[in-house]
Amino acid sequence: HSTPFVITLDGPTASGKGAVAQVLAAHLGFAYLDSGALYRLIALIALRSGWKVNRELSTADEAHLVIWASNLDVSFVGEDIFLGEENVAQDIRDEEVGNMASKIAVCAWLRAALLDRQRAFAQGTGLVADGRDMGSVVFPDAPLKVFLTASAEVRAERRYKQLIAKGFSANMDNLVKDLNDRDARDMAREHAPLKPAQGAYVLDSSDLTLEQTVDVVLKLCAEQVNVPAV
Ligand code: CDP
Ligand code: CDP
Repeated sequence: HSTPFVITLDGPTASGKGAVAQVLAAHLGFAYLDSGALYRLIALIALRSGWKVNRELSTADEAHLVIWASNLDVSFVGEDIFLGEENVAQDIRDEEVGNMASKIAVCAWLRAALLDRQRAFAQGTGLVADGRDMGSVVFPDAPLKVFLTASAEVRAERRYKQLIAKGFSANMDNLVKDLNDRDARDMAREHAPLKPAQGAYVLDSSDLTLEQTVDVVLKLCAEQVNVPAV
């Protein structure tokens, strides 16, 4: 059988990767990988084990991360994300979990431990994968790579609205600070830093609606294979 058609969507926090990826996957009938959710799940486990966001990771901590990743019992069911029997889809969206995820994501062993699990999502006709290193590390041979960005102000605003809509409390000043810290950490790290993959199409969605952004990616897609554009 033929190889699944993989579309990678990487970019900074709140650039719209998840939203765009889900619409695309539904439209194309492709599978969807939310790789950030895997890092967030491990972060949730760490926080529940009593780790604080400002923790300095020791070698023993890194071993813990690898064990949690290898034993991770997760199932993605539509919008729901189950850790064992517990639906944690809402819990992992907390900003504290996002910040912790970005802290532990510097660990090369953890990243390696999650590699096969991510690649296993490439099944059937195709996959839309969103994250930071989908095009650079996890699916380097993907035929379509997109690096989705937007200005920091626009992204903070989007995340603010999204958190409020989901029933979380949010503070714009804290959000801007967290977002800048997280971007800096994601871009500066040694392993799989956030940057456009080789051959990636850089798409700035600051002035685009979600629909317009999806439209651009579908057109790029149609240039690669014969898929119907919206
Ligand atoms: O996955 P990522 O952190 O990159 O962002 P997201 O959670 O998909 O998107 C953040 C919010 O921005 C969501 O509520 C989107 O609906 C919204 N949004 C967007 O994704 N793209 C636009 N062009 C405009 C708004
Ligand atoms: O939704 P948002 O863009 O804020 O975050 P996410 O995609 O859920 O990812 C949370 C954190 O996990 C990021 O800040 C990254 O540090 C890390 N991550 C990563 O290192 N590699 C990925 N492929 C996905 C996420």
